[in-house]
Formats: sequence, structure tokens, C-alpha cells
Amino acid sequence: MMKPVVYVTRKIPDDVLQPYREVFNIRMWEKEDKPVPRDILLREAAKADGLLCLLTESVDKELLAAAKNLKVVANMAVGYDNIDVEAARSNGVVVTNTPDVLTETTADLTFALLMATARRVVEAADYIREGKWDYWSPYLLAGSDIHGKTIGIAGMGRIGEAVARRAKGFGMSIQYNNRSRKEKAEQELSAVYKNFTAMLQGSDFIVSLVPLTQKTAQMFDEEAFRNMKSSAIFVNVSRGGTVDEQALYDALTNGQIRAAGLDVFDQEPISPEHPLVGLQNVVCLPHIGSASEATRTKMLKLSLDNLKAVLDGEKAITPV
Ligand code: DGY
Repeated sequence: MMKPVVYVTRKIPDDVLQPYREVFNIRMWEKEDKPVPRDILLREAAKADGLLCLLTESVDKELLAAAKNLKVVANMAVGYDNIDVEAARSNGVVVTNTPDVLTETTADLTFALLMATARRVVEAADYIREGKWDYWSPYLLAGSDIHGKTIGIAGMGRIGEAVARRAKGFGMSIQYNNRSRKEKAEQELSAVYKNFTAMLQGSDFIVSLVPLTQKTAQMFDEEAFRNMKSSAIFVNVSRGGTVDEQALYDALTNGQIRAAGLDVFDQEPISPEHPLVGLQNVVCLPHIGSASEATRTKMLKLSLDNLKAVLDGEKAITPV
């Protein structure tokens, strides 16, 4: 029996891949640790039964039309806005993602970013590195408290709830906005459901964890920032496309909000010249929400297990 062909769009460790070599004929983009050129991706997809891709690859109508044998696309991410899921469905291609395995790790990073922004951790570390620390002073690098404050979580999915658990541990009050009510979070974490505007108006920290869809695109716009407190801190760990970056820049520079912690951007990667990077009240990270070694390995293995399940004629483990 011929092994199904699986194309992997980035070099992944041999020890992770090895067990799957027995069941797949694995082809891989391994020249450099950067996205596979589009023409090579199209050429490889045309020969593949399964595709393991990252959020850097656009799986669109063009690719799906070229990939005549393709049965499954395993996206190594929980978000899948890089994939035209409708087109995949109509071509009979199963799409899978990697929920659950990254929930706690991403919540850790969300909280780290929230804390770093509130307490000006990056700015303070730079202060020493730049030789500016001459003496202790009462308000030197004084930031915002976290305990006793209100967090507003936009997108109360698995990661939102994991962030809420951390917030509760820090003695914060929790508000949330979501497509549906989350009774468990309301009971166990005393989370209070609010409409979007009321949540923005009543929160000290606003955390975006909404998936990027047509509905959520640029939902954090000029009006949203106008509705926030002038002391508010905005944190985005979902997708940059949920934010109007110009409106965010304006809000940060005209005192409409205090600060922002950003792990994601509209166009990634951003350059050091990106206007938001230059602001002292912004902490920018290079999309590392789920980036612990253990979790990234789990995400890869889940992607490979999803490919195996579908190519064995079974149900995907985590279809989208
Ligand atoms: C995801 O999983 O969607 C993250 O953005 C990448 O870990």
C-alpha cells in the first residue's frame, strides 16, 4: 500500500516527526525557518493527501483548486482565519485546528502581557539597560495595580475562561462579552456578562481573545477606544485584525487609554519602525501566545494525529 503524502510547511523536529514517517510519506519545507514560498506550496499541495500548515500559510480557493488529492488540512493553531473553511468544505477537505492543548499556555502569556504592561516591566528593564537608574524615587516607573481591578474579557472561550481563572486569583472582578452566556464562569468565577459597550466602559483591563471573523474584524475601533476609561489598559492576544491599529495608536497618544499590550498585529511580522512599537506605553510581542516548548510540541503532535485520523478514514480529533 502506498503511504499517503503529507506536506509539512515548516521544518519540525525529527523526534516529533519520526513516528509518523511509518504511516506517511512526509515532504517538508526545511530550507529555512520562514514561510514556504507560495509557488512551492502550490506545487506540493497538488501532490499531497494531507497538509500540515501554520498561520503563515493562506489556504484559499486557489490552493484548494490546485490540491486535487487533498483530504485534510491540519492547522497548527487554534485560530484558522488563514483558511477558507467554506471552500475547503465544498471541496470535501477536512480542516482541523489545535484547541485545548494551548489554552493554559496562552492564558499564561495573556496574563504576563497584562502584568508587564500594567507594571511597565519592559520599560523598567530598559531603564537600567540604558543607564538611567540614578536613584530611587517615589513615583519612578509607577504603574497600575492589577489586584482589585476589573478585567473585561472579549471572547469568553476556553482561553478567556483560563484568563478569568487567573484574574480571580489576583482578586480582580471579571466582566465578559461573548456570543453566548457562560454559566459555569458566572457561577464559579463570579464573571458578569455585559454588552460590549458596557464592558468597555466598566473595565480597567480589556483583553481581546475573540477569533477573527467578518463580524469581529476591527471591532476595537475608534468608538470602542472612546468608550474605555482613560486609565484603561488594552491587551490583544487573539488576532491583529480585530483592532483598527490607527485608532489604537490615536487612543494611546491622545490619552484616551493608558497603555496596550499586544501579541498580535494586523500584518505580521511588524518592523521596529511600526508606529505602535515606538510608544513607551506599549509592550509588543512577536505572536508568542502559545510558545512554550511543551505546548508547541503538543500542537504539532495533535496536528499530525488529526492528519492520521482523517487519512485512516476516521473522524478528525479536533475538526473546526
Ligand atoms: C493560535 O493558535 O491561533 C495562535 O495564535 C498561535 O499559537
